[in-house]
Amino acid sequence: MKILVTVIFTCISVTSFSFAQVEDVRKGEYLAAAAGCMSCHTAQGSDAVPYAGGHALKTPFGTFFTPNITPDMETGIGSWTSNDLIKAMKQGIRPDGAHYFPAFPYTSYVRLTDEDVKLIYAYLMSLKPVRNEVSEHMISPPFSWRWLQFGWKILFFDENGSAPPYSGNDEVVKRGDYLVNALGHCGECHTPRNMLGGLDRDALFAGMPYDSTAGEIPNLTPDMQTGIGDWSESDIVSFLKSGMKPNFDDVQGTMADVINHGTSKLTDEDLKAMAKYLKSLNPIHNKTSR
Ligand code: HEC
Ligand code: HEC
Repeated sequence: MKILVTVIFTCISVTSFSFAQVEDVRKGEYLAAAAGCMSCHTAQGSDAVPYAGGHALKTPFGTFFTPNITPDMETGIGSWTSNDLIKAMKQGIRPDGAHYFPAFPYTSYVRLTDEDVKLIYAYLMSLKPVRNEVSEHMISPPFSWRWLQFGWKILFFDENGSAPPYSGNDEVVKRGDYLVNALGHCGECHTPRNMLGGLDRDALFAGMPYDSTAGEIPNLTPDMQTGIGDWSESDIVSFLKSGMKPNFDDVQGTMADVINHGTSKLTDEDLKAMAKYLKSLNPIHNKTSR
């Protein structure tokens, strides 16, 4: 009898343990989509393996090649603990203590809760390990000096993230803020930067005129002439879901990746929260189109 009861209890605890794990992986997959990990960590080209790295990220400082973040022991992050991932994503620090370049938007992910990073970790560790050695970054000195990133952090890294956290009481806007800033790091592209690559915090989400590395980045503030003040919340939701603009133009450039690998996978409720947050921003007049 005692043996039978022990067996039954062991079975129950083993199955509920793996149920919990499956649930964590599913939640982590959703968070990784909201955070756009796949679009940066998958190489360009249709035969590229998701998350195996090698995506060429062109910036005014040179080209970065994103690392392999599948759980391969030698070329990926197979030996990492969840705390290693928390330190990388929220402080920009590598397990050996070196500093990451802000091309990895830890500057936004700093606002993620540790629980959410642990769920993303559970998801990444559930992927098939893929061996893929990624090329070195092609950046010229002094920008390529990793130790200088320590100084960059002192100048530009803010523990509150890349945009000031919403301090009002509207729970939907609060969720939208978390999705747009902590996860979606939307402001990392949609905000002008100074010569050292720091965000211009007086012009958050105000966009940038055409530039040869990024194209034209539209103004996301609700300014009527130069921003998206004339888009309704449901216009924003359908754009983030399908890439279709209110004037029936299709999305172009890097925003297409953000939508395909990211926002198109989110629930309508979350997309509505993001739209409501964007609508709550102060309008900034900044013309980006030629
Ligand atoms: C905008 C592009 C971009 C996005 C989005 C992005 N990363 Fe990265 N990531 C990078 C770059 C570039 C590096 C390399 C930085 C360096 O060499 O200093 C990097 C580095 C990393 C590393 C360090 C790997 C190592 O071997 O040291 C991890 C882990 C990582 N990213 C995980 C993630 C996760 C998880 C997400 C989604 C939540 C994510 N990244 C989203 C660009 C990105
Ligand atoms: C990797 C850089 C990048 C990131 C990250 C990014 N965007 Fe974009 N976004 C762009 C570019 C480039 C365009 C212009 C695309 C076009 O003209 O079709 C754009 C266009 C848009 C537009 C259309 C505006 C207009 O006037 O046509 C909206 C809305 C938008 N983005 C919202 C977001 C949101 C919300 C996020 C965060 C989830 C985000 N973007 C993250 C680069 C980015």
